[in-house]
Amino acid sequence: MDIASRLLAWYEAHHRDLPWRVTPAAFARGVRADPYRVWMSEVMLQQTTVEAVKAYFRNFVEKWPTVEALAAAPAGDVMKAWAGLGYYSRARNLKACADLVALRGGRFPDTEAGLRELPGIGAYTAAAIAAIAFDRPAAVVDGNVERVVTRLHSIETLLSEAKPQIRALVEKLVPQTRPGDFAQAMMDLGATICTPKRPRCMLCPIREACSAILTGDPERFPVRLPKDDKPLRKGAAFVAERDDGAILLRKRPDKGLLGGMTEVPTTAWTARVDGATTADAAPFPADWQRAGQIGHVFTHFALELDIFYARIAGDAPAGHFWSLAHEISGEALPTVMKKAIEAAIPGATKKPSPHSAKRPA
Ligand code: ADE
Repeated sequence: MDIASRLLAWYEAHHRDLPWRVTPAAFARGVRADPYRVWMSEVMLQQTTVEAVKAYFRNFVEKWPTVEALAAAPAGDVMKAWAGLGYYSRARNLKACADLVALRGGRFPDTEAGLRELPGIGAYTAAAIAAIAFDRPAAVVDGNVERVVTRLHSIETLLSEAKPQIRALVEKLVPQTRPGDFAQAMMDLGATICTPKRPRCMLCPIREACSAILTGDPERFPVRLPKDDKPLRKGAAFVAERDDGAILLRKRPDKGLLGGMTEVPTTAWTARVDGATTADAAPFPADWQRAGQIGHVFTHFALELDIFYARIAGDAPAGHFWSLAHEISGEALPTVMKKAIEAAIPGATKKPSPHSAKRPA
C-alpha cells in the first residue's frame, strides 16, 4: 500500500472526532463538509489548539449557523464572541470575509486561487478549505504536516529553508480521492503520533516508510535554530470600579495589537516599547492602590503589567465607559485584560451575564 492509502486506512479507525468534521463513514455515505464550517474552523485553528477551538467553534456556529447570519451580525458581537482566542485581526478578517461572501451570494469559491483572494485566507487556509470542503487535491502544509514530512525523509535542512522541498513532497503524496481526509489524517498523525516530543513511532501507520526512525532520534526533526528569548515589556493597567461594581473600560484603536478590543486603561506599552509602571501614569487621577502584577505572553514579546485599583464615582472620563458588573463577562476583553481585572477584583470577569445565562428548566 502507498503512504496515502495507509494513512487513510489509519484515519478511518483513529481520526479525532471534531465538531467541524465529517467522519470518513459519513463521507462514504455521500455527506460533504459545509464550506462555511470548514472555513470557520480553519481560521480559528490557524494559531490555536484544537482543544481551545472546540467551544468557540460550537458557540459561533450556534449563534451564526450560516455565512449570511455572520455577515448580518454586528462586528462588535463577533469581536465579543472571539475574545480569548487571541489574534484579533483574525476576527476582523473573519467578519470582512463573511460580509464579502454573503454579498456574492453566500457561496465560498471552490478553488485555492479563488479562496486566497478573500480576507484572512492565506496559502494554508485556502489549501485546507479546497481539500476538505471541495475535494481538491491541494497540498495542505501546517506545522504538523511539516513535522511528519521532515521525519519521513529525515530532512536535515533548516525548517525555514526547507519549506519548498516539504511542499513538493506533500504534493507528491496527496491522493486524487479523499484529499480532504488525507490532509486531516496528516494533521491527526502529527498531533497524536508524530508528536514534537516522544513520538509514538510503534503505533505509526507509515513507520516502514520513515527514515527518521532509522536515525534513532526522530525528535530531532524538523531542524530549527535555537529560539531567541522573547523580549520582556513592562507597563501598568488601571482597574477603576464604581460602587455598584461597574468597571471602567475603553476600546483600543482599530489598528495594531488587540485592535478594536476592549481594555481597562493601560500605559502605552507595545511589542517594542515599555510603558510607564507607576500610578502617576494613570489616565486620570484617583486614589490608585497597587493590586499586584500579571504576566502575559504574546507572539513576539512577554508583557508584565503592574495593576492599580481605585474606586471612583461619577461619569466615565472622556473616551471611557462603565461596564456593569453583569456585562463584564460579555465584553470583548482579551485574556491579558481579564487577567488585569481579576488581579484587582477576583471573580469580576466570571459573573454570568443574564443574557448568556441558561434559562432554568
Ligand atoms: N488543524 C488545523 N485544521 C485542522 C483540522 N481540520 N483537523 C485537525 N487539526 C487541524
